[in-house]
Amino acid sequence: MAKLWAGRFSKEVDETVNAFNSSIAFDGRMYKQDITGSIAHATMLGDCGIISREDSRQIIKGLQGILADLESGELELDPTAEDIHMFVEAELTKRLGDVGKRLHTARSRNDQVALDIRLYLREEMGEIRSLTAKLLHTLCDLAQQHLDTIMPGYTHLQRAQPITLGHHLMAYAQMLLRDYDRLLDTEKRMNYCPLGSCALAGTTYPIDRQQTAKLLGFTAPMANSLDGVSDRDSCVELANALALLMTHLSRFSEEIILWCSWEFKFIELDDAYATGSSIMPQKKNPDITELIRGKTGRVVGDLTTLLAMLKGLPLAYNKDMQEDKEAIFDAIDNVKLCLKTFTPMLATMRVLKDN
Ligand code: ARG
Repeated sequence: MAKLWAGRFSKEVDETVNAFNSSIAFDGRMYKQDITGSIAHATMLGDCGIISREDSRQIIKGLQGILADLESGELELDPTAEDIHMFVEAELTKRLGDVGKRLHTARSRNDQVALDIRLYLREEMGEIRSLTAKLLHTLCDLAQQHLDTIMPGYTHLQRAQPITLGHHLMAYAQMLLRDYDRLLDTEKRMNYCPLGSCALAGTTYPIDRQQTAKLLGFTAPMANSLDGVSDRDSCVELANALALLMTHLSRFSEEIILWCSWEFKFIELDDAYATGSSIMPQKKNPDITELIRGKTGRVVGDLTTLLAMLKGLPLAYNKDMQEDKEAIFDAIDNVKLCLKTFTPMLATMRVLKDN
């Protein structure tokens, strides 16, 4: 695929380097955010008279067409494209000719990627919050049913004092409430729009940053253009919130693993949420909780990846930052999977009250 920046180069990029450089395999999932951002940008360019209204109208229509074709499967992402931003612009130019190229006026991929990732995280965080809320409801219901279910409370995993299961479960509810809050807080802090930062120093075009910020549902534009393109705090903050959420799920999982062992036998998992053994029929394995415990290490790793990636970077954009996506997407995907399996597992487990 022809590169936006190919003008001053006299040779094609080496094939291995091309593949090494390319991020479309993982940033392709931001196609909707990329197009949404571009529609807002094109609207603003037209309203400010930076491009003609007719060009703006054509670009927006073209982008809507690309989105529809991607969603219907009529158009497929080109795996040899450098990234999703270049893919969409190249496709637009293929469809509209030179008009398509005007979309890149007063913009760089640096503010574009910073925008796309914020839009993407914002959406995912909303979903993770609602999954967390579901788990909280399940926990409260369960606690309500077990206000009088006596169980041993432990310190050092030694029987310490009598408590109720309701009391124990609500300890986790408190942790999850804080997790929910942390997500909201992260969302609030990251809801500023980097568009207009361009490559790093802004632009001399008379753009309207307030308008794009408003169109895209942001609180305001980001205040500093260098920060706008090099800040990945929102990825780190979200990864941190997710690592802690996973840590809570992992501690809970560890208890469930103990509770359904023959040594404790406080609970029995529903058949739909456990696995068995082909040669040891007495076994019912709590795979979900073990996987959650395991995946917690992975999400902690994602947070570490992001911090280590950022710590030595001078301002402003550096290609290292492309590594942010796989880490934060991995954390998001895994947390969602964990919440989606943990909640129904909890809701269906049988509490062996007498034990
Ligand atoms: N694919 C790049 C990323 O994810 C987009 C930004 C590229 N910018 C640049 N100046 N090479 O970070």
